[in-house]
Amino acid sequence: MPVNTIALNQQRQPLDHLNTVWLFGYGSLIYKTDFPYLACRPACIYGWQRRFWQGSHDHRGTPEAPGRVVTLVEAAAKRCVGMAYQVTPDTFAHLDQREKNGYLRFFTELHWLDNAGSHSTADSSGIEQGVVYIANPDNAAYLGPAPEADIARQIAKSHGPSGANSEYLLQLAQALRQLNEQDEHVFTLEQLLLGLKNHD
Ligand code: SIN
Repeated sequence: MPVNTIALNQQRQPLDHLNTVWLFGYGSLIYKTDFPYLACRPACIYGWQRRFWQGSHDHRGTPEAPGRVVTLVEAAAKRCVGMAYQVTPDTFAHLDQREKNGYLRFFTELHWLDNAGSHSTADSSGIEQGVVYIANPDNAAYLGPAPEADIARQIAKSHGPSGANSEYLLQLAQALRQLNEQDEHVFTLEQLLLGLKNHD
């Protein structure tokens, strides 16, 4: 798979026939909303968990010294909590550019949450189709699992055009707290990072 996924996303998933699309964000898309949206709601998707297993060459690191950002990995009994945004299809030109370093778009079922992070009523109005960006293991920037202490050290020292990798982790942890979401992987990395002397 090419490093840059812009053309691939546009070929495999045209969206222009739709009036609006729900976008599910689970990483920086939760806290960095540099795109217009019509509405936003906390949501979750089932069967996935967030992991700092994707390399970042273009935002929080460089091709020579990649940072680490989140992707989703399959986990049957888990759910991933994030934020969903209702956007118009033209917004994906910007989103594809932003997520171009290995992420592909997929349609998935979004389950609405109330603001406290618990499930809204389990009727059919609580479910909507949405689009999520996932970086699979076959993309060229994928780094995969590593001990959490090593991941924290890599995040502590990485910088890219969008800023310090540590800022990505700290802002994500803060955004998840605001959603009342207890994500052990993210919060463990946050504690490890804060325990290191040389982080930004
Ligand atoms: C997302 O936030 O949904 C995708 C990963 C990222 O851009 O951090």
